[in-house]
Amino acid sequence: PRKVVIDTDPGVDDVLAILFALASPEIDVALITPVFGNAHTPQTLANLLKLYYNLGVELQAHPESRERYASVASGKKTLVAVGENDPIGGEKHVATYFHGVDGLSNISETNPEFTPPADADKGEFLEFTDKRAHEAILDLLRTEPEGTVTIIALGPLTNIAWAYRADPEAFSRVGEVVWMGGALDVPGNTSPVAEFNCFADPYAFQALLDEMKTGKFRFTFAPLDITTPHSIPFTDLLHPGLIPGADAAAFPTPTRLQAFTTAFLLRVRGLQQKFGLPDAMEMHDPVAVWYAIANASRSHPHALADGWSVAAREFGVERCGQITRGMCVVDRRGTGESFGSDRTQNAELTGTSITGHDITANGTAPK
Ligand code: BDR
Ligand code: CA
Repeated sequence: PRKVVIDTDPGVDDVLAILFALASPEIDVALITPVFGNAHTPQTLANLLKLYYNLGVELQAHPESRERYASVASGKKTLVAVGENDPIGGEKHVATYFHGVDGLSNISETNPEFTPPADADKGEFLEFTDKRAHEAILDLLRTEPEGTVTIIALGPLTNIAWAYRADPEAFSRVGEVVWMGGALDVPGNTSPVAEFNCFADPYAFQALLDEMKTGKFRFTFAPLDITTPHSIPFTDLLHPGLIPGADAAAFPTPTRLQAFTTAFLLRVRGLQQKFGLPDAMEMHDPVAVWYAIANASRSHPHALADGWSVAAREFGVERCGQITRGMCVVDRRGTGESFGSDRTQNAELTGTSITGHDITANGTAPK
């Protein structure tokens, strides 16, 4: 299996993405680095621990399911290194309006049974280091063969930009960075023009994009353009017996993970209804994991699995606009000029021209 780092801000879709990663034999989750984003970092760490606690409860009740969680079944522990709680630049914002104050639909209040008790064994599947996230990322890149590690980033790019800045040479040993973030040809989800992960630390994104021009490492991102269309109906995700008003006795008893995920997905369903959105969960972070999984078994780290295509895009990232922070500004003039050209009037954009890789996959949703 391909070694991966998951940099994440759990977060409802982050939790689904991590479970998806853990259940995928193609990858080996070597390191997880919580970052701020959907909530403050202490909370995103707590949600990660919550996920592992409930996975442990599930596996105790169903030991035969252990084989389904490859990274756990291997018996090797996943290292956790806590990351940044503030962006590289600009004001801090968190997405608690969507993910709840605890970052997980407020289930710490509504469903305390999913919170690990004080004496829970946090070390069953995980081990912890006092190193900061970016240091642990660099350690892994230094020790693993060059080009063999994939970083899957599911939140603001703060930890990743820190790692790059701290040691660009070690960082460029990475095989690929895959990030869920940005919005190119579709509206944003945090503002009319910005996607949340990009909005939360546009300076971090820009720092990586500037360096990417040197071609030292490969950066592939899944913007809202590709993630929003990959939604899964809530009726396929929720345990039917736990939907309010359902006759619980008519359905099989939910497993621990079904109960856990249904608890935090119900609030998201309510939000979607309130905003008149489709009755389906947008699988933003799982799409990035899915892409990494699809490519993990390829012989060359840059090879593309069937059904996926990647396009190079040129755009600048707005960092401090009053209403455009986090916007990916695509040059649609068709002149072939970049934002760095001397004809560009907007000083903020000077020098921000980059070429990224925008996933334009058209596969079907993963099972
Ligand atoms: C992204 O923002 C977060 O709220 C989600 O977890 C996802 O990473 C979607 O814009
Ligand atoms: Ca996320």
